[in-house]
Amino acid sequence: MSIPGEISVSIVDLSSLGVPGRQQAAEILVAAFRSGWPDAWPGMAEGLEEVDEALGAERISRAAVDEHGRVLGWIGGIPSYRGRAWELHPLAVHPEFRRRGVARALLAAMLDGARRRGVELIFLEVRPTNAEAIGLYGSFGFQVIGRRKGYYFDTGEDALVMEAKLATADSPAVVDKQVG
Ligand SMILES: CC(C)(COP(=O)(O)OP(=O)(O)OC[C@H]1O[C@@H](n2cnc3c(N)ncnc32)[C@H](O)[C@@H]1OP(=O)(O)O)[C@@H](O)C(=O)NCCC(=O)NCCS
Repeated sequence: MSIPGEISVSIVDLSSLGVPGRQQAAEILVAAFRSGWPDAWPGMAEGLEEVDEALGAERISRAAVDEHGRVLGWIGGIPSYRGRAWELHPLAVHPEFRRRGVARALLAAMLDGARRRGVELIFLEVRPTNAEAIGLYGSFGFQVIGRRKGYYFDTGEDALVMEAKLATADSPAVVDKQVG
């Protein structure tokens, strides 16, 4: 895929990149959050722990790699409700490759994969101060549907809960069903 800013990226399964991919994904996580939220993943130990969770059997993780196979960013998905809903976590793009469509390519690939598997709902938590991420999610149709008080252990910040409904073969998107 060719994206503005002259970077050509491919979206691949993070697990296909083996040990080097695991290492780079952890480095990106640490680097991506360092300037804004340094205690989220303060070092490689915490980064690797998160990557290993993301590589777990039930999880989905995709990486954006350049033509040299270098990881520029990655995204994780956590299926819940018997796979009918996915939580997106985490999403990180290396600071040197920002604003060139890498996150957009990752999110688009994740949503395509979710649609193909019949996922109906995608949700995530985001910090209210994270204007970049909120802008990104908003451009994909995510809406704020709630707030978790004091959710982030590192800063005590609330989390905004955002969700997007996906169209499936059986049910068109954005139909709120009345229950009861
Ligand atoms: C949020 C993040 C993943 C975006 O990655 P990115 O590759 O730079 O994003 P993209 O280039 O694909 O941008 C897609 C859209 O996101 C929004 N966006 C990204 N950076 C932005 C910025 N600095 N200011 C405002 N909006 C921004 C815009 O809507 C942008 O679309 P546009 O370029 O057409 O205006 C990246 O900044 C990051 O890793 N941040 C730290 C980790 C993080 O916040 N993760 C998400 C936690 S919920």
